[in-house]
Amino acid sequence: MTFAQRMSRLGTETAFEVLARARALEATGREVVHLEIGEPDFDTPRFIRQAAAAALEEGFTHYGPSAGLPEFRQVIAEIWRRERGIPCDADHVVVTPGAKPIMFFVMLALLEEGDEVLYPDPGFPIYESVARFINARPVPLVLREDNDFDLDLGELERKITHRTRLLILNSPHNPTGAVLRPETVEGIAALARKHSFHILSDEIYARIQYQGRHLSIASLPGLAERTIVLDGFSKTYAMTGWRLGFGIMEKQLAVHVARLMTNSNSCTATFIQRAGQAALTGPQDEIRAMVEEFRARRDLMVKGLAALPGVRCFAPHGAFYVFPNITGTGMPSGELATLLLEQAGVACLSGTAFGAHGEGYLRLSYANSMENLKLGIRQFGEFLSVRAR
Ligand SMILES: Cc1ncc(COP(=O)(O)O)c(C=O)c1O
Repeated sequence: MTFAQRMSRLGTETAFEVLARARALEATGREVVHLEIGEPDFDTPRFIRQAAAAALEEGFTHYGPSAGLPEFRQVIAEIWRRERGIPCDADHVVVTPGAKPIMFFVMLALLEEGDEVLYPDPGFPIYESVARFINARPVPLVLREDNDFDLDLGELERKITHRTRLLILNSPHNPTGAVLRPETVEGIAALARKHSFHILSDEIYARIQYQGRHLSIASLPGLAERTIVLDGFSKTYAMTGWRLGFGIMEKQLAVHVARLMTNSNSCTATFIQRAGQAALTGPQDEIRAMVEEFRARRDLMVKGLAALPGVRCFAPHGAFYVFPNITGTGMPSGELATLLLEQAGVACLSGTAFGAHGEGYLRLSYANSMENLKLGIRQFGEFLSVRAR
């Protein structure tokens, strides 16, 4: 079979591959601590599951509008207007099966061949993958540990050209857990106004932030028109398998993105949208408790990792990942991640799974129990001391 040339440009998300390798090891009887996958270990809160079951009983089993159920879009717009200060109404919202399709659809709708897309490196691998796939030109913006993995405004300005069409932001950030400083967000906004590019602001971890208030760039004057806010239910409500996300964008763009939905998925499952509406309008105390638990786990991870020889660890302000610097171990990231899985039974990701500038780092997800996190760090430490002998 021959495949279209474009398939050679499509990347992947290594987390799923490492998970498969870890599961294969488990099938041979080995025990593995899973710190590779970015999904909450909590169950979806009961009231949300009940809302889905009730919606099925009520007959939400048919096709719905491509852009999403009007009432659900309305609820999203009201909450994001009130809580994030984003000027929007239901017409600005498109609901999708997971948040990932928003990346795909927005780039398909906006970018011509050769248009430049600025994206964070290290960063979520799908940004670069999709940009390449559709023949746009991905241009990395390096996030550096000595700048707390914040975006460097000087570098951003230097990399803007007449072909720059889109900047991708992600705060809180996967894989570093960094949160953009408010002055950085203001600086980016000024550059976007001056150079007229669009911003895809991936805010999927916005509710998992440990200090300060989340600042959406779309809330700044004049920015809502040029920003697409990507958000969803996977992380905040522990709903990864449900596939529910959305984008908030300029109305004309929303029409195009809805048309891409018509051409691909038709619509997002309607009973799942009802569950999403219940999630947003129901009690939020379980979510707050989950965030507090993540905070305690972050503290444990940062302290535990920093105590290992050759490892130092930036203390992240959001999401549920740590991104320790492992250069002091003398091993390249890819090799260390492989050995940790095979010899120490700890599954994690090489920093290079998030771009070339992830070399020297590992990504560990702390969406796992305290007990397993302690075990993972202990086994990591034992592995390093055996190697040092
Ligand atoms: C930064 C970032 N954006 C988007 C997504 C995709 O989320 P969803 O499960 O809603 O498609 C993820 C999932 O890992 C993520 O880490």
